[in-house]
Amino acid sequence: MTTIHREKLRVLRENEEKRFVTEHPRSAELYQRAQNSLLGGVPMNWMKKWAGAFPVFVAHAKGAHFTCVDGKQYVDLCLGDTGAMTGHSPDVVMDAVARRARDGITLMLPTEDALHVGEDLKKRFGLPYWQFALTATDANRFSIRIAREVTQRPKILVFHYCYHGTVDESLAALQDGEVGPRRGNLGPPVNPAETTRVVEFNDLNGLEEALKHHDVACILAEPAMTNVGIILPVAGYWKAARELARRYGVLLIADETHTICAGPGGCTAEWKLEPDLLVFGKAIASGIPGAAYGCTEEVAQRIAARIHLEDCDVGGIGGTLAGNALSLAAMRATLEHVLTAGNFERMISLAVRFNQGVSSAIQAFDLSWNVQRLGCRAEYTFSEKAPQNGGESAAAADFALERFLHLYVLNRGILLTPFHNMALMCPETTGYDVDQHTEIFREALSKLSSTA
Ligand SMILES: Cc1ncc(COP(=O)(O)O)c(C=O)c1O
Repeated sequence: MTTIHREKLRVLRENEEKRFVTEHPRSAELYQRAQNSLLGGVPMNWMKKWAGAFPVFVAHAKGAHFTCVDGKQYVDLCLGDTGAMTGHSPDVVMDAVARRARDGITLMLPTEDALHVGEDLKKRFGLPYWQFALTATDANRFSIRIAREVTQRPKILVFHYCYHGTVDESLAALQDGEVGPRRGNLGPPVNPAETTRVVEFNDLNGLEEALKHHDVACILAEPAMTNVGIILPVAGYWKAARELARRYGVLLIADETHTICAGPGGCTAEWKLEPDLLVFGKAIASGIPGAAYGCTEEVAQRIAARIHLEDCDVGGIGGTLAGNALSLAAMRATLEHVLTAGNFERMISLAVRFNQGVSSAIQAFDLSWNVQRLGCRAEYTFSEKAPQNGGESAAAADFALERFLHLYVLNRGILLTPFHNMALMCPETTGYDVDQHTEIFREALSKLSSTA
């Protein structure tokens, strides 16, 4: 097996860093200027995590590609970390958005688009009733509130190394077996141990032990973990976990925000999961802010019994702009014309091609890494075997190596997500785009492995 020599990695990385700075003078200038008005020089703090000395500033994005302010073109395999899984600015959605923007954006009144969206989501996921939010984070927060209200229980359960947005309760992790704030959690309002139980994914005994306390309102889960590499459930896991949740009176919230990559109805439809609530954000409106959360007939009845008309505007769910006309017009066009079965078929075949390319390069250079795939999402991890839980996957992370590989491909026109090694396909990604990545990735491995 080839081992990565750290000194060589350091030198290679330094060369890529220099090349990046030299080739992006305009982005460098904007980043410098931004120091005077934006905290940390970026509009949002995660943007500092890109592999170069500063983020690339974007001029134009369409479909699977974008151009930066220095005029360089990129294949976008990050796609706004799923927000643009539809491809950037699909024409059909932009037409609907432009029409709606001229006809009124937000009113605190419904438009007919809401019904089309609700009916479509009902067919995709099999859940009868839907509500809207502006972000997946909010949709998760509102689903948790509903779960707490109807079960009258205080805690939620999440998996170690999960990510569900900036939901306070979910920014929790295990440290020596104890629940505490996740590393990096800024100003936690309370110690998450008070609100949250955390267990490892794929561990049914651990799940049952946690549920036995009878204080858990809901399990908030991605059907497959996607935010610490791709971690698939082992055979039978969800059937048994679903059964445990029922036995202990706990609601199951499927956060399909990323796992929608599995197909038009996400993992819920693919694997016949039966969640009590389901959340779908990010790509649902092609990047126009919007998210949806749905529930079963039973949950709908239980929550209806607890909402009173006079106080329904201060219950902690919803928001002034939630369910606005513009988001719903974008969602309707996205669901009807972009996130279709035909498009998923193409996107999934490209992710298969991506993994074949990466896998053949890994084998050629005798590295003990593995590749995983969930629908049109592909990912490689620096461990020999596919990790089965968050702890295992996090242990295989290699920040320095990851940054080198990201920067190497970025300098040659390919954008991966800034977090771990994920590549996502959209309807306009081409086989050529994927093969370009394979070639550049292979070249990077050859540099890492060479003895020269
Ligand atoms: C699975 C999952 N759920 C929810 C979210 C939150 O989405 P947003 O940041 O758009 O609120 C994320 C964000 O990455 C996510 O990965």
